[in-house]
Amino acid sequence: MDDLRSRRWLAPDNTRSFAHRQRLQQMGLRREEFMSRPLIAIVNTWSDLSPCHAHLRERAEAVKRGILQAGGMPFELPALSLGEVLVKPTTMLYRNLLSMEVEELLRSLPVDGAVLLGGCDKTVPGLLMGALSADLPCIFVPAGPMLNDRYRGEKVGAGTHTRKFWDERQSGHLSGREWIALESHMSRTPGTCNTMGTASTMTLIAEAMGFTLPNAASIPAMDSAHTRMASESGARIVDMVWEDLKPSTFFNEKTVANGIATYMAIGGSTNAAIHLIAIAGRGNVPLSLDDIQRLGEGVPVLANVLPSGSNLMEDFYYAGGLLALLQRIHDKLALDCMTVNGHTLGDNLEGAQCEDNEVVRPRSQPVSAARALAVLRGNLAPSGAVIKPSAASEHFLKHSGRALVFDSMADLNARIDDPELDVDANTILVLRNGGPLGAPGMPEWGNLPIPKKLLEKGVRDMVRISDSRMSGTHYGTCVLHVAPEAAAGGPLALIRTGDVIDLDVAAGRLDVRLSDEELAQRRAQWRPVVNMPPRGYTKLFLDHVTQANEGCDFDFLAGWHEPVEPSIY
Ligand code: FES
Repeated sequence: MDDLRSRRWLAPDNTRSFAHRQRLQQMGLRREEFMSRPLIAIVNTWSDLSPCHAHLRERAEAVKRGILQAGGMPFELPALSLGEVLVKPTTMLYRNLLSMEVEELLRSLPVDGAVLLGGCDKTVPGLLMGALSADLPCIFVPAGPMLNDRYRGEKVGAGTHTRKFWDERQSGHLSGREWIALESHMSRTPGTCNTMGTASTMTLIAEAMGFTLPNAASIPAMDSAHTRMASESGARIVDMVWEDLKPSTFFNEKTVANGIATYMAIGGSTNAAIHLIAIAGRGNVPLSLDDIQRLGEGVPVLANVLPSGSNLMEDFYYAGGLLALLQRIHDKLALDCMTVNGHTLGDNLEGAQCEDNEVVRPRSQPVSAARALAVLRGNLAPSGAVIKPSAASEHFLKHSGRALVFDSMADLNARIDDPELDVDANTILVLRNGGPLGAPGMPEWGNLPIPKKLLEKGVRDMVRISDSRMSGTHYGTCVLHVAPEAAAGGPLALIRTGDVIDLDVAAGRLDVRLSDEELAQRRAQWRPVVNMPPRGYTKLFLDHVTQANEGCDFDFLAGWHEPVEPSIY
């Protein structure tokens, strides 16, 4: 008992500790409720404007139940809520802020362990990055995906179908009335996007890295099993405190490699490449784009879920969830890695079986011959770029075309549907100044819209290149995360409409047909775009954010450090 971290606040016989105990009693707590039990933080990212987390207030009650039954004392702590769609300019601007908040919440308060509640895209890396830096025992409760919905007999997936139906509307195949009717069909219940978007990608990776109870990540948000999992997680964290099972005791290179193998097998979002580098960095595991490519080698896409496949996360859960999938790639995993339930990944996989071979495919029948992520380099992306071949058009994976360059999203919006736009199906659309510094915050602009005049001709995909990100729910031949970004003076800043670009995914190349001399000449004339002078958090972000290939963490947060305990006088 005296080993508990919270005892530093509560045990000493002095006026400061007297005040700590007094303030807990002020909240109606009896002495025995906080003096003889582990104090557990429930870090809750619920808010009224975070639809994917709408149920997390109720789930916090289930977590509390579990904590109390196991002999702990729960304290719910609200944290920054990053609802992906409503937060502008982009939640990515605030991922690092959430991570800092989580780290400082856990560091500054008298808690012995933490349950982390969240799931919407940036929330998962934000919570894990903060928890790794704080290094207290912690368990992650994924928000869970929303339920499936259908429209006119067809399964519709959040995000993925928005773009599909918009393209149909733009090309005159969907009426304004149907478009409005669809608003109530895409996101039927609380919970995260029901496709293999960034949320499900990151929650499944978190599970594979050992941060959740087994098979927790795919339980639908509105399933009673989700409430039971929350309660069980509450009970488990109390034991984790007694076992001192904190991230630094189980997070290592092998954990990260398991996350990467999982990433490939689920056909995950390109965003995971950035988040994994940042998460690994907080846990002292150096990780590059090339490492991700190497460690994912030979792992086929087996999860037949949109946008790489055709089903939704509820189907994935019925098929056996992540354990069923990991069983299929067990030879690619480090099975001796410890997980939060106190057992190894290998122990947890025992007895796992697939209930639906169409949704979780056998190795002999992958969803796609193409992989979930390919890394590109060349004179247009010296520090790297990524593409998701499994969600791209095969015939575009080797393509040369004339660039049509947009300097900003405002420029693109103003011109993309101009009937006079000089564009055809082989043109390569380029958007620059959409990176971490340029936008700022690196929004999900990388799935550039197809020009209306081409949609009307039946074109549904084109090669698109940007220094932005793309929603994990989206699809198409989109080269993303070009680094260095244009705003940092990367070569993307130098190209002009009419330049010819060569994309060769198999060879890992992205080049513009310009000589070094021509590029140098243009560089001499280049001037950075000057945005509004930043203030507050945006200034901190711009001063310290790293490029996409480095994880976009702040330079002063990345890398391992001994957690600093606050002085208590
Ligand atoms: Fe929250 Fe997609 S918008 S998970």
